[in-house]
Amino acid sequence: MSAENDVWSATPEVLRLFPSFVWKSQLRGDVHAPLNALILERLNEMRRGLPQLQHGESWQSGHGLHTLNEFRTLVPCIDTAAQRVQEFLRIASSTPHITGCWANINAPGSSHRMHTHPNNFLSGVYYVQVQERADTINFHDPRPETAVIRPPVSELTAYNTDQVVVTVATGMLLVFPSWLPHSVDTNCSEHTRISVSFNLMFPSFAETMAEPLWGVP
Ligand SMILES: [Fe+2]
Repeated sequence: MSAENDVWSATPEVLRLFPSFVWKSQLRGDVHAPLNALILERLNEMRRGLPQLQHGESWQSGHGLHTLNEFRTLVPCIDTAAQRVQEFLRIASSTPHITGCWANINAPGSSHRMHTHPNNFLSGVYYVQVQERADTINFHDPRPETAVIRPPVSELTAYNTDQVVVTVATGMLLVFPSWLPHSVDTNCSEHTRISVSFNLMFPSFAETMAEPLWGVP
């Protein structure tokens, strides 16, 4: 009898430790269609008089879009998504609030390099206008130590990759931890890609929840 069959008292288990989450929601068509029309109209107004974006160029608005009337439907959706994350993570405190909200307009040929959003708890994106060949966001392995040794693999899987590509759609809302590195590939479509990004943080964090910590090993 081989040891393969003989020595184990149970089927081997793989423990998945410290997972990284991206929370994905989709707004109904009858909600996102009029909302996106309002947002596009306001963005056109903001960009009036500015030169048209050329191939490879992108533009970002100011960070106060959540205070504008045209965003009054989107803000409660973001707040609800934040509440769901709070419940999912069993956070026993105030819900994170929007600290900034801005639009990204990416002409064909433009991309967004890898980055994080420091000093926030959650970040996210709402997709106003995406289309085929401009409909992904990349999330990168937040554990830099895993890159120390990267043996070749016979098959790329969710368990050996250092990057996950998420396909997005118009009307979709993503929320993720602000420390999770992400990037956007080159817009290979013939149309502009438009999204609205946001950050969320606990209100009055240091005063009401916890003192800032330094030098924690
Ligand atoms: Fe970002």
